[in-house]
Amino acid sequence: MTRTPFVAGNWKMHKTIAEAEAFVSGALPLVGAIDDVQIGVCVPFPSIQAVVDSTRGSSLQVYAQNVHWAEQGAYTGEVSVAMLDELEVAGVVVGHSERRQFFGETDADLRKKLPVILAAGLEPIFCVGETEEQREAGETERVLRHQVQEGLHDVADGDLAKVTIAYEPIWAIGTGKVATPEQAQEACAFVRALVAARDAEQGEQVRIQYGGSVKPENAAELLALPDVDGALVGGAALDPASFAAIVEAAR
Ligand code: G3P
Repeated sequence: MTRTPFVAGNWKMHKTIAEAEAFVSGALPLVGAIDDVQIGVCVPFPSIQAVVDSTRGSSLQVYAQNVHWAEQGAYTGEVSVAMLDELEVAGVVVGHSERRQFFGETDADLRKKLPVILAAGLEPIFCVGETEEQREAGETERVLRHQVQEGLHDVADGDLAKVTIAYEPIWAIGTGKVATPEQAQEACAFVRALVAARDAEQGEQVRIQYGGSVKPENAAELLALPDVDGALVGGAALDPASFAAIVEAAR
């Protein structure tokens, strides 16, 4: 089966509204009409409305970088799926290692978030990945198994492929240290097998992105791997030309 490649740029805490609009002006002529790759930018909350407005009708889709699982309530600083849905975003990134590490997002939170996101008709990009110590201790598969099984626990079998899973080894994020093709393929195939163990067809359909120091120079090799269906890109996605070069590598 063929899976449509999916390249998303995660801006993290970068870009004011003016900078976000400048990115869109630079990126639209390069990627705005591409229809054989799904293309997304994961935008800080304050710029979402502007980026949704300026990308309307193009191939560039907008994703948020976090959401709460509760419908509403006393959760100062948090944002609900209904709020995101109202902004007309395509989806939201959850479980990024920076949110797990610095803001205490847990597997239990993700277990609650994923079904809520799907119920709102939004697309989750669900991040998993091991630390360097865990890899060196031979614990990569144990860690991935736990994260994937817990996060997807309350997603119905038939909905599993609506989740895009981003495999981001933490030691490769923002370090310039990219996983070797063998490491990326092995981990992404393992994640796919975990989904397939729940439902074989969904395992075949689910898209798995690699993330961690993806750049125009290494994207083609990573994106050609059989179980890598796209990339979640940080630093190299901040510049429209470099982001577009990675999108092109996915075609
Ligand atoms: O979410 C993308 C990310 O964590 C990878 O960042 O800068 O290594 O591409 P970077």
